Amino acid sequence: MQKLVVFSGAGMSAESGIQTFRNSDGLWEQHRVEDVATPTAWAKNPELVQRFYNARRKNILQAQPNAAHRVIAQLQQYFAVQVITQNIDDLHERAGSRQVLHLHGNIRFARSSAPNANPNMLYPIQGDHLDLQRDLCPQGYPLRPHVVWFGEDVPAYSEAEHMVQQADIFVVIGTSLKVYPVAGLVHHVNPNAQAYYIDPNAQAQHLPTQYKKIALSATQGLSQLVEQLIQGAT
Ligand SMILES: NC(=O)c1ccc[n+]([C@@H]2O[C@H](COP(=O)([O-])OP(=O)(O)OC[C@H]3O[C@@H](n4cnc5c(N)ncnc54)[C@H](O)[C@@H]3O)[C@@H](O)[C@H]2O)c1
Repeated sequence: MQKLVVFSGAGMSAESGIQTFRNSDGLWEQHRVEDVATPTAWAKNPELVQRFYNARRKNILQAQPNAAHRVIAQLQQYFAVQVITQNIDDLHERAGSRQVLHLHGNIRFARSSAPNANPNMLYPIQGDHLDLQRDLCPQGYPLRPHVVWFGEDVPAYSEAEHMVQQADIFVVIGTSLKVYPVAGLVHHVNPNAQAYYIDPNAQAQHLPTQYKKIALSATQGLSQLVEQLIQGAT
């Protein structure tokens, strides 16, 4: 089976009703990123950060996978599919994708905010709410969302890089490619692989010529591409 690697960003879940990160006003759900998605924000105002992610989690739990998430799961019948996502939602998994690597964490989990906490020790969150006073790790530190904040390491990056290098087909969907280091993944694709970039804003993106740009939404772009992919696999 050929290896098909999907690299998704916030645009992948836009049609599920989850806002992308950069709207034209440069804010994320009415907040400056520095106020809610950095270690400094957590140190300064953990209540605001916790409230912000509780609201994101509530929104994500109410959302449903869209047709594009479902198509990717169906492609598992024809390809060895690996999803690499920047998204902190779990819509790929809920659509049925079995191999999903979260580069920026998964909001359904928490980890300890202790200074030397093991980043791999994860706590599943029941419901949509983490409470700063009540939800504590065994050492007594508050649990924080399992998300990678700006300025933090991306521990899964090298694993993702390896997956991209191995891809026979690489499909990038709904990402502005402005968040580093992960945006750099697009440059690790094998020159012999088929590479696609689906995003309404695709034409404005500078990418190696190997990439075929599909300037459509995730659902429209994938429904256009899927027949061609399946024909190539059978
Ligand atoms: N769903 C989520 O989990 C979620 C939502 C918002 C932000 N984030 C976080 O913020 C960071 C944002 O970086 P990013 O590059 O992923 O997002 P981004 O907001 O920087 O870019 C979104 C991209 O999606 C495109 N887009 C908009 N509507 C689309 C649609 N219907 N179909 C396909 N594409 C569409 C836009 O043209 C843009 O290029 C990520 O690292 C992620 O962790 C996650």
